[in-house]
Amino acid sequence: MRDAAPQTIYLKDYTPFGFTVEEVHLTFDLAPSATRVTSRIKFAPNPDATDKTFFLHGEELTLRWAKIDGETVEPSITAEGLTCDVPNIPFVWESEVQIDPAGNTALEGLYRSSGMYCTQCEAEGFRKITYYPDRPDVMSTFTVRINGPEPVLLSNGNPVASGKGWAEWHDPWPKPAYLFALVAGELIAHPGKFTTMNGRKVELNLYVRPGDEHKCAFGMQALKASMVWDEKVYGREYDLDIFNIVAVDDFNMGAMENKGLNVFNSSAVLASPETSTDQNFERIEAIIAHEYFHNWTGNRITCRDWFQLCLKEGLTVYRDSQFTSDMRSAPVKRISDVIDLRGRQFTEDQGPLAHPVRPESFQEINNFYTATVYEKGAEVIGMLRTLVGADAYSKAVDLYFDRHDGQACTIEDWIQVFEDSTGRDLGQFKRWYSQAGTPHLKVAESYEGDTYTLTFTQHTPPSATTPDPKPQVIPVAMGLLAADGSEAMGTQVLEITKETQSFSFPGQPARPVPSILRGFSAPVVLDHSADHAFLLAHDTDPFNRWESARALAKGSLMATIRQGKAPDSAYLGGLTKVVADDRLDPAYRALMIGLPAQSELAASLHAEGDVPDPDAIHLAVDAMREAQAEALQDMLHPLYDAHQVTQDYAPDAAQSGKRALGNAMLALITRRDGGAVAQAQYDAATNMTQQLAALGFLIGAEQGDAALGAFEAQWKDDRLVMDKWFGLQVMKAKPDDAADTATALTRHHDFNWKNPNRFRATLGALAMHHAGFHAKDGSGYALLADWLIKLDPVNPQTTARMCSAFQTWRRYDAIRQTLIKAQLERIANTPGLSRDTAEMIGRIREA
Ligand code: PHE
Ligand code: ZN
Repeated sequence: MRDAAPQTIYLKDYTPFGFTVEEVHLTFDLAPSATRVTSRIKFAPNPDATDKTFFLHGEELTLRWAKIDGETVEPSITAEGLTCDVPNIPFVWESEVQIDPAGNTALEGLYRSSGMYCTQCEAEGFRKITYYPDRPDVMSTFTVRINGPEPVLLSNGNPVASGKGWAEWHDPWPKPAYLFALVAGELIAHPGKFTTMNGRKVELNLYVRPGDEHKCAFGMQALKASMVWDEKVYGREYDLDIFNIVAVDDFNMGAMENKGLNVFNSSAVLASPETSTDQNFERIEAIIAHEYFHNWTGNRITCRDWFQLCLKEGLTVYRDSQFTSDMRSAPVKRISDVIDLRGRQFTEDQGPLAHPVRPESFQEINNFYTATVYEKGAEVIGMLRTLVGADAYSKAVDLYFDRHDGQACTIEDWIQVFEDSTGRDLGQFKRWYSQAGTPHLKVAESYEGDTYTLTFTQHTPPSATTPDPKPQVIPVAMGLLAADGSEAMGTQVLEITKETQSFSFPGQPARPVPSILRGFSAPVVLDHSADHAFLLAHDTDPFNRWESARALAKGSLMATIRQGKAPDSAYLGGLTKVVADDRLDPAYRALMIGLPAQSELAASLHAEGDVPDPDAIHLAVDAMREAQAEALQDMLHPLYDAHQVTQDYAPDAAQSGKRALGNAMLALITRRDGGAVAQAQYDAATNMTQQLAALGFLIGAEQGDAALGAFEAQWKDDRLVMDKWFGLQVMKAKPDDAADTATALTRHHDFNWKNPNRFRATLGALAMHHAGFHAKDGSGYALLADWLIKLDPVNPQTTARMCSAFQTWRRYDAIRQTLIKAQLERIANTPGLSRDTAEMIGRIREA
């Protein structure tokens, strides 16, 4: 356990480390419970630093000896690291520590997973491997020797030499310790080759456990596509002789961009048509791209301190979303991203966990790998590109790479290259990095003479970290439509900088219909009573057309929840036309049928001063699905039939889109036929997309028992598929049964709660089942709290992340609030609670 009274760390307190590191040599003698790590590190006094305290981070290490310039020293050691007297000239530090990978269940540092060794060092895991200045602004080259009987021994950089029982690696690119990685095990390589734009030949490998060889081809192809794309679009070339990816089963996050040795959660890289859904394939392609793109945005240019996390994450998420848009459908990707942003980031921004894209303080940095840093961070980059234009964006990013290659940078450095290359003052724009909260943008219209005027008023609700928000720079892409649906004015970008601001469009012979915030050009809540039915029929912007359907659906659902109104016929009529329109992409039509998440409806009710009732929301959504089935009745079977794929399975956008629309039809068909077609699809399925969709609909129709048994028998030996089996049963449970279903699953012999994927599949699914988690009797809250308390001492990072399920507790009625408060208190009062979980529960309780 670390510090009992956790400290708060502030951005304003940054000071450079007193020493630079010129070279790092590490030797690992691997043994499951007693690995020895010997380090040889060249330090020199840092001329830029005033504080010359020699403090090396180190946690859970047993120091065997330490030397400076060959002389034994006796450093003073605490639970957090060591200090030692050192000379005021360059010197060599050597030490040997012993660590226990087999006992490391937190999955941070060096640990064991399914018989292999692997590491996770971001953000502060290297200090569990050896004593070191574990901060991103200390960069060095690394030479690593691994001694061990495992046939595959990997580290960062290029292979230097190897023999039986050992291997040596050298990484010539200076890097911070968080990018260090080591992997050892009985692994199989799925090889590949790549030649860069300047003719450098690169060896590629995807390393997996025996038995997973057939799940590698897609990941390898995605890696090559990412390498090509980054050369073509950003001019970025790979810079080592080898690029390795390793799949591990026990991993807290999706994947990690260690230099030349990416480590992936097996769920984020392994894929085959039989075991992975179309959505899995798309996610894997995006994550492979994301980690690969980090080689430049994150590794070659890294972060000065962890407050700058969005410098690498926001930019890299933005880059991977550009990649996916290019590989697949840009509107479909944009809509999916906005659904995700509203679901996760807006929720964060509206509650007690709200923080700026660049936070100014934290207790545990692991708690700041958030939707705000990642997804809002990416939105900020997108706005910047919209404001300066695509060409100026490219020029500024080129300057960023030229100016800062090899450095550990700040958001100020990033903004500066845009100011220098465009001559713009981005002082106000920087507020996007320092202010928490989602701006609300109110729109008023007027039409006088032939001049049409839009007046915008922005308001950001105050939050704990931003009590007094100032106006933001908001790029609003908009266009005008004429009454016949033709375009009266194509898309323009308005730049809002003031609290209230008007824009006039003269020369309009008739009152136009505005289409505002096209492409969701800024992460704001738009408050505008637009003519959604008209826009659904006519908008030329695919995002806003979808948004209109969303707005109509939401308005109708809110009226059902509040006044018991029947589903809106204007919405259903408009939807029917779009779904029937064969000129539109099937994937896009499938998105059109989607409804806002129940948690989003709860958030809107709360924002408008009502107390959301999860059961009423659930019933309203169910009634709306029924109304959709009725409205689309005549086309359900024809469209289902027309979108069956007869060619060999391919995870591409075209086939996935067809399956998405076909399965959207099947969901509604199942409401009518009680599961006959779903059962037929289940029985005939040759890929996981079709199999899993059918299984879900059968469970929903209470016809799933046989298929669930068959599914388990078929897939019991495939961990990733069994995660789906665990998760789906909770997701599809009736609200009253959700907690019981999850409880039963936690008693299943395959419920390995120490595996983050399995834990999340089961308990994470419960937390995301709005009406089930918020069941009136408090059973959902109690069950989640039980498991968080159990997991915390084993894996604080995964526990802390899942605490966010409670972040919305202030929205609900007094009874539910009391129930949640009791669980939060119970967690908070658990003796020995980790710093990670203590910080999260503390922030949530302050709401
Ligand atoms: N840096 C990783 C990514 O975004 C995420 C990560 C963070 C992984 C912390 C592990 C631990 O690509
Ligand atoms: Zn990342």
